[in-house]
Amino acid sequence: APPSAGVVGLGVMGRNLALNLAQHGYSVVGQDLQAANGEALRAQAAQEDLPARAVASAAELLAELPAPRILILMVPAGPAVDAVCADLVAAGAGPDDLVIDCGNSDWEDTERRFRELAGKLRFFATGVSGGEEGARHGPSLMASGDAADWQRVKPLWQAIAARAATRSSDDTVDPVCAARVGPGGSGHFVKMVHNGIEYADMQLICEAYHLLRSTLGYAPQRIGTLFAKWNRGPLASYLMEISADILQTADPETGQPLVDVILDRAGQKGTGVWTVINAARLGAPAGLISESVFARALSARKAERQTADRAYNGNRVTAIVQEHTSDIEQNVHDALLAGKLCAYAQGFAMLRQASEAHGWQLDLSAIARIWRGGCVIRADLLDTLRTVLDSPEGQTNLLLHDRIRTDLQALQAGWRSTLKLAIDSSVPTPALSSALAWFDGYCTADSPASLLQAQRDYFGAHTYERKDAEDGVGFHLQWQAQPRRQTRR
Ligand code: 6PG
Repeated sequence: APPSAGVVGLGVMGRNLALNLAQHGYSVVGQDLQAANGEALRAQAAQEDLPARAVASAAELLAELPAPRILILMVPAGPAVDAVCADLVAAGAGPDDLVIDCGNSDWEDTERRFRELAGKLRFFATGVSGGEEGARHGPSLMASGDAADWQRVKPLWQAIAARAATRSSDDTVDPVCAARVGPGGSGHFVKMVHNGIEYADMQLICEAYHLLRSTLGYAPQRIGTLFAKWNRGPLASYLMEISADILQTADPETGQPLVDVILDRAGQKGTGVWTVINAARLGAPAGLISESVFARALSARKAERQTADRAYNGNRVTAIVQEHTSDIEQNVHDALLAGKLCAYAQGFAMLRQASEAHGWQLDLSAIARIWRGGCVIRADLLDTLRTVLDSPEGQTNLLLHDRIRTDLQALQAGWRSTLKLAIDSSVPTPALSSALAWFDGYCTADSPASLLQAQRDYFGAHTYERKDAEDGVGFHLQWQAQPRRQTRR
């Protein structure tokens, strides 16, 4: 008999994952309490002549699959995951049945579920990226859990995962975009950081578009063509490709550029916010990612922005730059590439810090490898990063690797010119500027934190360390005494 698998939750993601498995030789049973979702899977499977069927209850699902089972959950993150697990246990799922949560779950919920379900089920986690298309034709799969369970999951994930489209500089590199990244909830943590980078990458592209439009006066179509050209160089990526396509698309109703009729109020479902919270907790500087999350929050306050625009920009000078336009294009290109490198640098540094804090032993290079295909942030650049992350200096921070250093040195002038132009033209560039501020801060050996430490000691006796004393020894100045006296704490 062919190997079998169950899929719980037959919304479009679950249905597509089920069809993908069926196409790769698995006999699939889907389950969804909503009859319409089951029906949709049946209909699609019949149309494509694939071995996938659907049932309504957990009991039927278990009855249809020989034990030990592999049950893939594709339900909304949050309480639904707990409810489905409880439902499966109640229906008779046993300690050898492997349950894989494939939603965008909060990694701490995942850690809790590993503890709570121990002995009842074999719990396992996987972050899935690539949207509906990816689920159907090849997602990027960031798995985590016990190494022994991975041996059971591996054949499924390797069968359905994306193959990296990017040619690798080294053809021994595995093109399959699925891996066990670590234990427990680490797969969901990695997916969360993937989304943080996704937010940054999207925001950076939006800022580049805004700048070209506001300063050079380019129409969306023209920027789309330019982006398509950039997509053939070092910026080549899925997000660049779709942005080029979007900007060249007309509204079917009015014929105007579609981007002009879409309301400028961005949504978000929460993984970006989690990335910011986790970065803050870890003390991982991820300002570019944070700014990208906050830019969405600011965009959502449309009415307020309209009021403020009237209040401040009543007589804004909006002269279009007519000269050196190709230089400006190149500068914006360079700023975008530099920003993108910083997004990855912040994301991977955050992963490294989390790995150390939780003892996950994440293989950063393998993560870059499985992000080369299937996922939203797939980019040619990731093949370079995969190599860079193999070396110790690259793991501390991408910026410390010679290859990235050479790139950033070459991009710096254009990056800075772009931001000068943005400031002079009042074009908001929170992500591009935050990236540069972080870069400059990271490359500053002597920072003004000396003054900050003094301030803390002044009002709160928080003590400071001295450059000429041992590490970790605290000093306090009696600021109010005359003459001022220093004591060791
Ligand atoms: C992916 C995506 C996807 C994610 C949204 C984020 O990798 O396929 O990251 O999983 O849910 O793209 O959604 P918001 O933009 O709504 O937060």
